[in-house]
Amino acid sequence: MAISRRGLLKLGVSGVAASYAPPPTFTSTTQTPIGQQVGAGTRKPIRLDRNENAYGPSPNAVAEVLKNANSVNRFPSSSDALGSSIASVHGIRPEQILLGAGSTAIMSMAVNAFLRNGRRLVLATPTFELIGHYALANGAQISAVSLRHDYGHDLEAMLAAVNSETGLIYICNPNNPTGTLTDRQSIDRFLEKLPEWVPVIIDEAYHEYAGGSGSYVSFLDRPSLHPGAIITRTFSKIYGLAGLRLGYAFAQPNILNALAKEKREMEIGSLSLAAGLAALADTEFTARCVQRNQNDRQEFVNQVNARMLRVLDSHTNFACLNVMHPAKEIIEHYQKNDILLGPEIPGMPNYVRVSFGAPEEMREFWAVWDLLGEHRMAM
Ligand SMILES: Cc1ncc(COP(=O)(O)O)c(C=O)c1O
Repeated sequence: MAISRRGLLKLGVSGVAASYAPPPTFTSTTQTPIGQQVGAGTRKPIRLDRNENAYGPSPNAVAEVLKNANSVNRFPSSSDALGSSIASVHGIRPEQILLGAGSTAIMSMAVNAFLRNGRRLVLATPTFELIGHYALANGAQISAVSLRHDYGHDLEAMLAAVNSETGLIYICNPNNPTGTLTDRQSIDRFLEKLPEWVPVIIDEAYHEYAGGSGSYVSFLDRPSLHPGAIITRTFSKIYGLAGLRLGYAFAQPNILNALAKEKREMEIGSLSLAAGLAALADTEFTARCVQRNQNDRQEFVNQVNARMLRVLDSHTNFACLNVMHPAKEIIEHYQKNDILLGPEIPGMPNYVRVSFGAPEEMREFWAVWDLLGEHRMAM
């Protein structure tokens, strides 16, 4: 009997102890995709692919969007209030902050500012790829340095890759797509040895999820003495505002000036400014999301252990799961069952990145995993 994901869930089956016959083959084509059962196209896919906040934005941020919707005939007003608010959260001055339409807009500014004339970007692999795409589109060269065996940045090798051509360095901590940390001491040692003229982005997009680890200290909480440090943060993760495109950078004035020259006028819309302010103020919502993510992460590890799988130590709202099989096939299997996972990871062909969804979404994730059945286990 072939049992579908939805059927499994109706039976209340979510763990490895599920008493159903596994499908006879690895391929999921014998299973009816869930979307088709309820009428193709009528059911949204479960999105475990982009590390968004599964619990949405703060209701206060939504209320601000609605409240300001009737004024969008007007150009956005000044972003000073949001800049001041961010600065006060971090105990710094507003002029130490530059806002952008997402932290990736800041990265794009940095690429334009510092990677002219074929200069070189040094970054890890695998890491968050967008800055590399921006750099290549800008005619820059790239030095990609493999992560260490513990999936931290290999900062000694990255330092060795720095030369007179280097225009920019990118460090993502915690790292996407691995979810792993590079300890603060190693980054400090790296920055001490790095020539002062080299700007370095430290991307803290997942900062709020990393809180529990002793080896993680934000560069906003304890700034670096390196004059080229550019710390980026986003409203797309814990604040749940990915669709509104809001991020910011903290850096020394000369660096911020160089970035600001590359910024488009009024690039942040009025609804984003309003929602950003409300999201920042709703610390209760943020704390709840952090707590939920901790629970979701622990539950994910429990399910991994129950199936004798392996997962990298996650300090984020996603996990990098060893699927012991070509990731491409697993991603396709999930796609057929209307669940989207992260893309294939360069150099890690047997790993998939799974964003943590709400508990009911994760029950579906594991039910679809279990559809792989004995065939996968035998591989
Ligand atoms: C490491 C990292 N930085 C930045 C971003 C995107 O930031 P934003 O939406 O602020 O441009 C992401 C999104 O997935 C990310 O993983």
